[in-house]
Amino acid sequence: MAERLNSEHLDDLIALMRGDGYRVIGPTIRDEAIVYDELRSAADLPWGFTDQQGPGRYRLQRRPDRAAFGYVVGPHSWKRFLFPPREQLVRIRRGSDSPQWTAATDDGPGLALLGVRACELAAIAIQDRVFMGGPFVDGRYRVRRERCLIIAVNCTEAGELCFCDSMDTGPEVQGDYDLRMTELGTELVLDAGSARGRELLERLPSRPAEDSVADRAQAAIERCRRSMGRRLDTRDLPARLMGNLDHPRYQDVADRCLACGNCTSVCPTCFCFTISDTSGVTDGEAGRERSWDSCFGAEHSTIHGAQFRPDVRSRYQQWLTHKLATWTAQFGTSGCVGCGRCIAWCPVGIDLTVEASTIAAGAGDPVPLPPVQSYAPRAGDGLVPVPARVLEVHRETHDVVNLVLQAPAGYAPEHGQFNMLSLPAIGDVPMSISGSGDGVLEHTLRSVGNATRALAGLREGAVVGLRGPFGKPWPLEQAVGRHLVLIAGGIGLAPLRSAVRETVQRPKDFPNVRILYGTRSPDDIIYDRELLGWIQASHLRAHVTVDRGDRSWSGNIGVVTKLMRRKHTPRSGLYFLCGPEIMMRYALAELDRLGIPAEHIYLSLERNMKCAVGICGRCQYGPHFVCKDGPVFRYDQIASIFGKVGF
Ligand SMILES: Cc1cc2nc3c(=O)[nH]c(=O)nc-3n(C[C@H](O)[C@H](O)[C@H](O)COP(=O)(O)OP(=O)(O)OC[C@H]3O[C@@H](n4cnc5c(N)ncnc54)[C@H](O)[C@@H]3O)c2cc1C
Ligand code: SF4
Ligand code: SF4
Ligand code: FES
Repeated sequence: MAERLNSEHLDDLIALMRGDGYRVIGPTIRDEAIVYDELRSAADLPWGFTDQQGPGRYRLQRRPDRAAFGYVVGPHSWKRFLFPPREQLVRIRRGSDSPQWTAATDDGPGLALLGVRACELAAIAIQDRVFMGGPFVDGRYRVRRERCLIIAVNCTEAGELCFCDSMDTGPEVQGDYDLRMTELGTELVLDAGSARGRELLERLPSRPAEDSVADRAQAAIERCRRSMGRRLDTRDLPARLMGNLDHPRYQDVADRCLACGNCTSVCPTCFCFTISDTSGVTDGEAGRERSWDSCFGAEHSTIHGAQFRPDVRSRYQQWLTHKLATWTAQFGTSGCVGCGRCIAWCPVGIDLTVEASTIAAGAGDPVPLPPVQSYAPRAGDGLVPVPARVLEVHRETHDVVNLVLQAPAGYAPEHGQFNMLSLPAIGDVPMSISGSGDGVLEHTLRSVGNATRALAGLREGAVVGLRGPFGKPWPLEQAVGRHLVLIAGGIGLAPLRSAVRETVQRPKDFPNVRILYGTRSPDDIIYDRELLGWIQASHLRAHVTVDRGDRSWSGNIGVVTKLMRRKHTPRSGLYFLCGPEIMMRYALAELDRLGIPAEHIYLSLERNMKCAVGICGRCQYGPHFVCKDGPVFRYDQIASIFGKVGF
């Protein structure tokens, strides 16, 4: 049942919420814009102001009336309160024996969000799926959401850039609100969407709204819907965009785009963040914090000293296809709610509705996206390391070290999964599990930079931070009774090693295993003693090749594809590949030439990772997150994007 309330009683509403202990956040004027900030009373609201918007343009203007909610949306969205631009994730205390990592909690008051638009409520629901719908639930986000009170407002006037109607997110507020209001002149028509909202409404001096008043409110929303000039044709949009990745319009946008990342920071759904370690002010204290990141930044896609998205064209393509296409495969919804912020706040006025429509209308055949994956929920948020003591350190080559760690209690990884290893004030890096069992686990790491150098320099007795195990494993059980061919390049043998060991334990299940291993030089061969043992096993054949031999080397010389002879590569076999991407590309081409079906091939991918739990966006690979959907992928599932610039 709707109620009506004079707008002057907004002051009572704010006072009630503040009295209940909420920090009330709502629209207010600052720096010539309507932003969201703490409200102390209704006097802070933007009474009588509106916003005029266009591509690359935002202007505050006076209205002829004294509406409190007579604007559309400004540069802020609610995401800055539920997912702050910068926040501490972990506190690190360096004890005398071992560092301790503990979750940094949010002990602040509950938030009352006043003036949430329909599109913004849809954006919050999208971020709920990102932060709370995967295998791990982000603890800080969940606490804020559970404590948050939402006072939503229906839109009765559309801005020039609004297109929520075509995204099915507005202008009428739907979904998870506590109170919903429609502003009609000097009055508000309200209804409650939750017990908390009903309880709040009962304490306000409202009175029942007659049917005619409720009808007027509904008519105002419908007028707003009809007046919305901007549209985006969403029919089959994800498949049409994915079918037109080579559209020349991308270069046209790249020629105008400044790659400033404004679009991602104003967007209410963009969730990418980076994680960095900080040193504490006091001795013995350090921390780990996250801060918003943008797919337009170079570091977002940096790996192996190169960038997977090396130019503005590929970064814009990532942005557009993520928002409007691959997001649907990741979260079952579009990543755009039609708020228009990215158009208004783009300094050169790039308009996503125009660009997406142009590109989607290209001549490419639609490419369907995979269905959304579901995950078994796991305990904790996966972001807080546990201590793991180094039991042994073995030098494998001049730059590769094998660390044997004491496994945390109950730790049971699967072959091909990975951990995040960290040291205080240095950061954490993804590392495949190269062995596990009997209370220990192993990591074989090549020292290439800051973190791996520090890890490689550890001595017995040192303690590292460990998060994991993460990711999808090799499907080893599918290989029972079949030929299994493992193709590795360089350090790529590490993620395969525990699977090889399992086949050594169970030779009857795996009677035909073949390892094809290529490395730079004889000195770069890892696990050399273990390799000799494997070669002697009756069920297993190992072939090694090096790029450059030396006087002591009488074996194969050349790249790993040279080992891929027909007799080593039966069509019915199962193939696991791991190594540098360029090596895997050549190996895949050779497997294709040998007639091996793509469904029989699995490969382990690497991408830039920060969270490892599917929420920081760093490891995106088209519709997939390498950390939770991979790192092991079946080739046919990624064949359309593997090796393509931009992914
Ligand atoms: C799922 C997964 C499993 C991995 N398993 C292993 C493993 O078993 N053994 C191993 O030695 N390495 C592994 N890596 C690579 C390892 O994570 C990187 O070498 C490490 O992150 C580099 O960090 P750094 O601080 O030492 O180097 P940085 O200072 O960050 O960088 C030094 C160099 O390494 C490159 N680099 C940075 N991050 C990565 C990355 N994620 N992958 C590859 N290169 C990177 C940089 O571009 C730069 O050229 C794995 C990566 C992933 C994603
Ligand atoms: S992509 Fe643009 S229009 Fe869509 S939700 Fe983000 S900021 Fe709003
Ligand atoms: S990758 Fe997606 S979520 Fe991350 S900044 Fe880009 S568009 Fe936003
Ligand atoms: S989403 Fe954060 S590393 Fe995969």
